[in-house]
Amino acid sequence: MVTGAAKGIGRAICEVFLKNGAKVVGLDISEPAEPLSGDIVYLKLDVSSTGDCEQVYGEIVTRLERIDILVNCAGITVDAMTKKMTEEQFDRVVAVNLKGTWNLTRLVGPAMQQQKSGSIINISSVVGVFGNVGQSNYAATKAGVVGMTKSWAKEFSMKGGNVRVNAIAPGYTMTDMMKTVPPDILEKIKGTTMLGRLAEPSEIANAVLFLASDLSTYVTGELINVNGGMRL
Ligand SMILES: NC(=O)c1ccc[n+]([C@@H]2O[C@H](COP(=O)([O-])OP(=O)(O)OC[C@H]3O[C@@H](n4cnc5c(N)ncnc54)[C@H](O)[C@@H]3O)[C@@H](O)[C@H]2O)c1
Repeated sequence: MVTGAAKGIGRAICEVFLKNGAKVVGLDISEPAEPLSGDIVYLKLDVSSTGDCEQVYGEIVTRLERIDILVNCAGITVDAMTKKMTEEQFDRVVAVNLKGTWNLTRLVGPAMQQQKSGSIINISSVVGVFGNVGQSNYAATKAGVVGMTKSWAKEFSMKGGNVRVNAIAPGYTMTDMMKTVPPDILEKIKGTTMLGRLAEPSEIANAVLFLASDLSTYVTGELINVNGGMRL
């Protein structure tokens, strides 16, 4: 199960999963402009709605025998300087990025614990690690995702649960989310990385693949930075 599957990093994750033989359920509030082909089913879902998550999860478990991997990738930015940020702007980002991650994990995590296997990967952000001007709401949610990740790694491994829960903090990545960032700021951002460039979505997806796969069977409760060596 991959949320935010319609485009950007979520789409790249679906692509790499398909290439590696997974049966993928892509979840998104929007339809993909160009659906991927292969063993993938797209379902419409607003991850911020607890009721909708329960309903869609119910549909998925009737269709599939088991869920082995959950990637919480859906996310939004609604940027504003703190003194200008409205309550709605704060609440919407919390609802999608933070509660949206909790909404599906509270259903999938216990089921994985019962089947005694599973891997959950949450997409945090470089902004959750370093903070950023005009993104206090977003930074709070992405740091919060790390806290939930570490809590779930403990919770879902109890009683032999054997569920691994990790987070990835991508650096700035070439997706639509970056379209609102002015070119001069993008150049500055590139200068803060050792590699001198932004990430391709596939480079984030490859790290997700590692955490989803049996190459990482002893990795849990971790935050992996995939940011080209960013130093702020
Ligand atoms: N692009 C970056 O530089 C960057 C850096 C660090 C972290 N991230 C994180 O990576 C994730 C993916 O970002 P992206 O750059 O691919 O963004 P994107 O805007 O290209 O894609 C986000 C996807 O999430 C979906 N989505 C939004 N709200 C939703 C909701 N309520 N329910 C279900 N789906 C919803 C959108 O429809 C879209 O398909 C996000 O969590 C983002 O915060 C991105």
